[in-house]
This record gives sequence, C-alpha cells and structure tokens, in this order.
Amino acid sequence: MTLLDIMRTNGTCRFYKPDPVSDAMLAQVLDAARWGPTGGNRQPVSFIAVRDRRKKEALQALYLPIWNTYFEGYRSGSVRIGATPSLLGNADYFAHHMAGIPVMLVVCMRLADVHPTDHQLGRLSIVGGASVYPAVQNVLLAAREAGLGTALTTLLCAEEPKVKALLKIPEDISTAAMVTLGWPVKPFPKKLKRRPLGDMAFVDEYGAVLPGAPTE
Ligand SMILES: Cc1cc2nc3c(=O)[nH]c(=O)nc-3n(C[C@H](O)[C@H](O)[C@H](O)COP(=O)(O)O)c2cc1C
Repeated sequence: MTLLDIMRTNGTCRFYKPDPVSDAMLAQVLDAARWGPTGGNRQPVSFIAVRDRRKKEALQALYLPIWNTYFEGYRSGSVRIGATPSLLGNADYFAHHMAGIPVMLVVCMRLADVHPTDHQLGRLSIVGGASVYPAVQNVLLAAREAGLGTALTTLLCAEEPKVKALLKIPEDISTAAMVTLGWPVKPFPKKLKRRPLGDMAFVDEYGAVLPGAPTE
C-alpha cells in the first residue's frame, strides 16, 4: 500500500471491535507523531492514551451533551456540515458507544511552546493549531497502515477543564483533540469523498485553477 493509498482510504472509523490494541502497537502508532513538524521545532504535543473503562465512560459522558447539542443544531438547520444523514447517524452511534473503543487518545499541547503568527489579525487564529495537527495526522496515517481505525474529534475540547481534572493534566497544558483508536468492524473505504482538485488548487491567484485539475 502506498502512502497515497493510505491517505485516500483513511476514513473516520465509527464502529470498532472490542479487541484490545497492544502496548507495542500503540507505541508504534504514537511514535509516528514525533516526526511531525512544529513551529521552531518546539514540539509542544503529548498524548494520553485512555484505556481505563471508567475514565472512558467519564469522557463519553462529557462528550455526549456537546454532541447532542451539535446534532440538534444539524436537525434544526443552524449547524452546517458536509455529511449525509447516514454519516451523521454513524457519528451518533459513535457518540453513544465510544467508551467501548479500546483507546481514547487525548491530544495535549503546551501553549507556551506555540508561536501563532496570526494572533494579531483580529480573526480566529489558525496558526496555533499547526504545531499539533501534523502530529495527529501522522498518528492517523500510521494507524491506517497498521490496519487500525481512528476518528479525529474535537467536540470534547469544549469540556477541557473537566477533561484536565479527570486525567490530571497540568495547568499549562491544553487539549487539542481526542482520537479514538481500535480495530475497525467494517473494511476501510475504497476512496474517500472529497472536493475535486480544481476547486482548491490555484496558480498565481485565488481562483485561477491549476491547469489539468479536474473540477468535478
Ligand atoms: C478538526 C476536526 C474536528 C472533528 N471533530 C469531530 C467530532 O468532534 N466528532 C466527530 O464525530 N467527528 C469529528 N470529526 C470527524 C469529521 O466529521 C470527519 O473527518 C469528516 O466527516 C470526514 O469523514 P471521512 O474522513 O470519513 O470522509 C472532526 C474532524 C476534524 C478534521
């Protein structure tokens, strides 16, 4: 399997077998995170692999009300998403069963080691996240290569103080994501659904489509 095959087929996994993920396998997958780039090579990222059933249930209990509000927002039309109703149904099942997934990986970040170059622009900072998500993506790719399913989630970050208390996360460390990890029930998708290249790849100015890039 090439790297491109891995990227093209690494869908968000919503259904997991209860089979455990070994410490060795977990270490192999997490090791990939270390190679992600970070601003100034300050490496602010760390992970807590939550395996303890009661802690996972506590995380699910924190996640569910946020998910329910989000799901209700979709139903009422106030939340806009690019997913089909069946995908949302799968995400709803996932929200109600995540404590049964072998690993809930809480991604942490030391904000003092981040230098967001866009923080004075008067809009949402994007750069701050750029020192953590390459590492997370490496974990997703390494997991896919090993045959493990993953789901990158961020809703739980809204409950950061409670997550920090539960997992004894120090004061100066923040949460950036929660990634579920386990053996998938279903085969990986053959190819993910994404916008065509012509919609997103430009030359010299925004909107000038890269020659030859498909627009459908
Ligand atoms: C920044 C980010 C935040 C996300 N947060 C959540 C989340 O909180 N809960 C969830 O169920 N999925 C979450 N997702 C997963 C997306 O719904 C998923 O990537 C998207 O629907 C595409 O799915 P696919 O990769 O299977 O095609 C998140 C993904 C990203 C990139």
